[in-house]
Amino acid sequence: MTFRPLRLGVNIDHVATIRNARGGRHPDPVRAAHLAAAAGADGITAHLREDRRHIADRDIERLANEIPLPLNLEMAATEEMLAIALRHRPHAACIVPERREERTTEGGLDVAGNLEALRPIVGRLVEAGVRVSMFIEADPRQLDAAKAIGAPVVELHTGAYCDHEGEARDREFARIQAAAAHAEAIGLECHAGHGLTFDTVKPIAAIATIVELNIGHFLVGEAIFIGFDAAIRRMRALMDESRPGGARQGAGQGAEA
Ligand code: PXP
Repeated sequence: MTFRPLRLGVNIDHVATIRNARGGRHPDPVRAAHLAAAAGADGITAHLREDRRHIADRDIERLANEIPLPLNLEMAATEEMLAIALRHRPHAACIVPERREERTTEGGLDVAGNLEALRPIVGRLVEAGVRVSMFIEADPRQLDAAKAIGAPVVELHTGAYCDHEGEARDREFARIQAAAAHAEAIGLECHAGHGLTFDTVKPIAAIATIVELNIGHFLVGEAIFIGFDAAIRRMRALMDESRPGGARQGAGQGAEA
């Protein structure tokens, strides 16, 4: 089997979480994005939440204009976020479910149950040249729905796989593997992310039809112990070890980058 290069999108939301704990400007997520680029990231991911708990509007503006890597904007499917995305035209937008009371993005988007609401939002982003992905559970129904509304990419939620252990983790892994194969079969580009760590990344990175991983919280946390640069380099190395012949060919490269 030919392995395609696997891109690493570094999510910098929690650099902003730490900044916002005190207000002010430190640590600066844009500086973190530059550092991530130097450490081997292929893209930068940032989630502008409705409540602006971490990333702020000004961060998106600066990320869109100042960083040397493609920006992947995670956003809820709302008119407010659509207007922001159309203003900045990031390389990519990942549509995520969002609830104010959640601590993080819990579960995937119900695309199958919201076809008519999501279709025009996806359409307007695609029309503007933004690569749209839908953040979904590894459920073939949701993949088929993403395809039906014209999204070219899906991102599979790896949270449950990471949270569980033993047989439950194996079951989650099998679902992700099957969903990644289904994505390929129906012509969707397949990404994955949420909760990935040094301990959980390798099996996911070894799935040949997954071409991008988005990883944030663990890298920012690990930066406290070994530094952000070293954490990203180690993650990158673990990903590359899992892809014989599929190691990346350079930052910013990739099927749709
Ligand atoms: N992918 C998506 C769509 C997400 O919403 C998140 C969290 O913002 C991630 C990936 C990264 O998850 P984590 O921060 O747990 O690595």
